Amino acid sequence: MKEQVKPATGKLGILIPGLGAVATTFIAGVEAVKKGLAQPIGSLTQMSNIRVGKRTEDRNPKIKDFVPLADLNDIVFGGWDVYADNVYVAASKAKVLEKDLLFAVKAELEAIVPMKAAFDRRYVKNLDGTYIKSFVTKQDLAEQVIQDMRNFKADNNCERLVMVWCGSTEIYHQISDVHLTLAAFEEGLRNNDPEIAPSMIYAYAALKEGVPFANGAPNLTVDTPALLELASLTHTPVAGKDFKTGQTLMKTIIAPGLSARALGVRGWFSTNILGNRDGLVLDDPDNFKTKEVSKLSVLDEIFRPEANPDLYADMYHKVRINYYPPHGDNKESWDNIDIFGWLGYPMQIKINFLCRDSILAAPIVLDLALFMDLSKRAGMSGIQEWLSFYLKSPQTAEGLRAEHDIFKQLMKLQNTLRHMMDEDLITHLGLDYYQDLVDSIQ
Ligand SMILES: NC(=O)c1ccc[n+]([C@@H]2O[C@H](COP(=O)([O-])OP(=O)(O)OC[C@H]3O[C@@H](n4cnc5c(N)ncnc54)[C@H](O)[C@@H]3O)[C@@H](O)[C@H]2O)c1
Repeated sequence: MKEQVKPATGKLGILIPGLGAVATTFIAGVEAVKKGLAQPIGSLTQMSNIRVGKRTEDRNPKIKDFVPLADLNDIVFGGWDVYADNVYVAASKAKVLEKDLLFAVKAELEAIVPMKAAFDRRYVKNLDGTYIKSFVTKQDLAEQVIQDMRNFKADNNCERLVMVWCGSTEIYHQISDVHLTLAAFEEGLRNNDPEIAPSMIYAYAALKEGVPFANGAPNLTVDTPALLELASLTHTPVAGKDFKTGQTLMKTIIAPGLSARALGVRGWFSTNILGNRDGLVLDDPDNFKTKEVSKLSVLDEIFRPEANPDLYADMYHKVRINYYPPHGDNKESWDNIDIFGWLGYPMQIKINFLCRDSILAAPIVLDLALFMDLSKRAGMSGIQEWLSFYLKSPQTAEGLRAEHDIFKQLMKLQNTLRHMMDEDLITHLGLDYYQDLVDSIQ
């Protein structure tokens, strides 16, 4: 496969619907890293190594030296929002990063001015932005987004584009007839079907142009047969849904450990307080429902109560998010986990994670953008399940259970990179080392 992977030449445009806390923290962070002011901590593409070959070979290159990724200096940013603030103003309002750091990259951030959003307030009731595109049909709206992308690509001399949705979480809705085929979807665009959400319009525009699309929110968006059909037609990679940060990141680290040691779980209660704009949007029950469904799926898939009823059949799982403005982006989460061990004796685990939501999300945006661009150059298209590592509610082929265990997800990601580079996959079986030893003694 290695020979098929095209090099990362020229500029890569990262286009982002939703220039809020996550997106501005990501963009400001990359600009700061480029100036040598900070390190891209949390980004596997920039900081992590990958083992190649046998353990005895001691080959552990950096991922960015192992696979051809776009260089940070070759990235240009663009995006859309329902507010007209440039990225410097939006980042200042988000209050995630300190003023000094933002000031050091002020010129770069001020130069990024959002394009008018494709927006429908029915999908995000708690936002009142007016910086939005006017349209007659949703088809017009999609065409305007396509034109924005083409203009951006030409104006910035980009060779390739990727799109990462960092917009608000939309209200909960399920697959309906208009999402079943591309023909029905395109008909729905012309008829202004209310089931076509704004995020779907951006995704449609991206896929039409062959631009990889990753979904950082739990919205349905590309998790529909119609848009997957389009991705297949245009040979375009997609990934989703919902960045795996904070509490769910902890869950997918701890739950596999409990399951690995055959410890039972009676209950897992998770609550959060969060005061940023995301928290405000999620304060609406219809928007929270989308997030809740995404967060709840994780434990069932890891514990599989139907396969192990003695340990997990009666597990009670509850997730709450409470909007609490004084904490801003500094989310605080509490988990109470009721577990049981030998002979059914009960124990408890308490976790109090004082995290920073956008600080955890920003490196995910970077890695998803760079890996999606790599996928495209490697000729991969459709659902990129190997990027589940970054996602709370990983998109999979129909009928395929998602893998939530972060360690299995990492193995899948690393093996995919080895596969791309024609290196042996690593199974961790390790018996060959002992066979070599036996052979050397004989
Ligand atoms: N921060 C995290 O840890 C985290 C984790 C998982 C998922 N997410 C999701 O990522 C998304 C972004 O989070 P955030 O904290 O940056 O939120 P935010 O509210 O700060 O930013 C979202 C931005 O999207 C804009 N927007 C909404 N609808 C839009 C549209 N149709 N077109 C263009 N812009 C639109 C809003 O005006 C806002 O500026 C949310 O959906 C959130 O649920 C965040």
